[in-house]
Amino acid sequence: MARLQILEYPDPRLRTQAKPVEVFDAALAKLVADMFETMYMAPGVGLAATQVDVHKRLIVMDVSENKNEPRVFINPEVLMRDGTGVTEEGCLSVPGIFDEVKRAATVRARAQDEKGAVFEVDLDGLAAVCLQHEMDHLEGKLFVDYLSDLKRDRIRKKLDKDRKERAARAREPAGARAY
Ligand code: NI
Repeated sequence: MARLQILEYPDPRLRTQAKPVEVFDAALAKLVADMFETMYMAPGVGLAATQVDVHKRLIVMDVSENKNEPRVFINPEVLMRDGTGVTEEGCLSVPGIFDEVKRAATVRARAQDEKGAVFEVDLDGLAAVCLQHEMDHLEGKLFVDYLSDLKRDRIRKKLDKDRKERAARAREPAGARAY
C-alpha cells in the first residue's frame, strides 16, 4: 500500500469530471487500498479519487467511530433523496476549513463494489452527507463552492498563507529550535 498525495484547493485538477470505472482488476483493488490508507492517515472520513488526481468515479468512506467500517462506492448514483439538513463540513483538499452546507438528509444510492457487484444502500447522518460531498468531487465540485464569493476568497488566501508557512518551516535546518 502507498499513501497518495492529496490535491489542495485551488488546484485546477480538482475541477476534473471523473469517468466511469469499467475495469475491475487488481490495479483497481490496489487503488482502493491506497485510497483507504491515504484517507485513514490524513485523517478523514471520505476520499474521492479526484482528490488523489485519479479521475475515475470511485469513493472510499469510513464514518464509523472505530474506523472499522470501510465502504467503497464505484460509479455511484443517487436514486432518491429525502429531507434537508445543515452540517459543518470539511474537506481534505481544503485543510483546516469548516463551514455549513445544506444537503439532503437521507439518500438511497446505487454503486458497485471493487469486484463490480452492484448494491443499493440507504444512508443517513454523516454517511449521507459524506457520500454527497464525495460525489460532488467526482463532478469537479468542492464544498466551498456552496459558500459566498467573499468567504471563498478568504479561504483561498488563508490556504495560500498556510502553504507558505509550511514551506518556510520545511527550510529550517533539522533539529532547529526557536527560542
Ligand atoms: Ni472533500
